[in-house]
Amino acid sequence: MKIILTGTTGKLGSRVLAHIQALLRDTTHSLIISVYNPDKGPELADRTAYEIRRGNFSQPASLDSAFKGGDILLLISYPSIANELRVKNHKNAIDAAIRQGVKHIFYTSLAFAGPPSSSSSSAAVMQAHLSTEAYLRSTLAKTEIKYTIIREGLYTESWPLYLGFVDPKAGEREAIVPESGGRGIAWAKRDELGEATARLIVDAANAPSGFAYADKTILLTGPRALSLEDTARIISKHLTHPFVVRTVSVEEFVRPGGKMHEKLGEEWAGMWATTYGAIAEGETDVVDETLEKILGRKPESVERTLETEFASA
Ligand SMILES: NC(=O)c1ccc[n+]([C@@H]2O[C@H](COP(=O)([O-])OP(=O)(O)OC[C@H]3O[C@@H](n4cnc5c(N)ncnc54)[C@H](OP(=O)(O)O)[C@@H]3O)[C@@H](O)[C@H]2O)c1
Repeated sequence: MKIILTGTTGKLGSRVLAHIQALLRDTTHSLIISVYNPDKGPELADRTAYEIRRGNFSQPASLDSAFKGGDILLLISYPSIANELRVKNHKNAIDAAIRQGVKHIFYTSLAFAGPPSSSSSSAAVMQAHLSTEAYLRSTLAKTEIKYTIIREGLYTESWPLYLGFVDPKAGEREAIVPESGGRGIAWAKRDELGEATARLIVDAANAPSGFAYADKTILLTGPRALSLEDTARIISKHLTHPFVVRTVSVEEFVRPGGKMHEKLGEEWAGMWATTYGAIAEGETDVVDETLEKILGRKPESVERTLETEFASA
């Protein structure tokens, strides 16, 4: 089987690549790396281990050449909060995979919306994923092509984002965010998400007809849901100064002159604020055992991941 990976110069895709290379060592499967920027340096250092092709999600012709001859595609979602562009790029990749005869498409969605059976979310960042999921299901239903939608857990490592772009390592003492009702996020370690994604792809390559997650939507989460306040409490143990969550109204969170407005601008700050409503509605506190099942071990605790992060800071 020829396995095409996209996004391997990114944070999640690079971990998939590292794990899949180890898993493929004694197999006859081979890798095609479809990259946006083929000149990337250290991320793609091992250039003899795979074929590198240029594939830009905004240029369908480049995707046709990048996906040619591939059997399995890992479509790592396009990193943008511009929803329309994001969906368009995902559709470009799915359509090119269909044209090129790919037999199974894996898509990295996101862990909002609650259980995998749910397909609605209050979070703006989830809308492009839900549209892409719907497109995959409806388009591939008319074909023999299989899909697996992986709702990748919210990275433990992305806590500064969810705590309002805070930087306590630089001395900040408060994470200022809208109310999230004390509901949790089932944080997952990025490397374990990469490992599980790699394991799924290799399982599908080894035994396509017996693959348990064909035409399924799965949710990968960490072992425990922690509220933003609990998360800040764990972080504070690694600091020499107090660090707490302070909740403000959405209006205050996005106000001109404030941190979010400066970082994201008015429209995108407003979009990001919807994340907290989604958390408050319990969309992110579902703990699912699929990650543990795929890894064959308990996923790493948030405490452990943060301990490692702060030890190397
Ligand atoms: N699960 C979570 O908690 C979480 C958190 C944050 C984001 N995400 C989302 O999950 C996805 C993967 O996340 P990540 O952290 O790995 O993102 P990332 O580090 O930003 O990597 C994104 C990848 O997409 C590639 N890319 C950019 N523009 C492209 C284009 N026009 N055509 C083809 N490839 C293109 C990048 O290539 P270059 O390196 O060449 O630019 C890179 O390899 C993104 O959609 C991201 O928004 C998930």
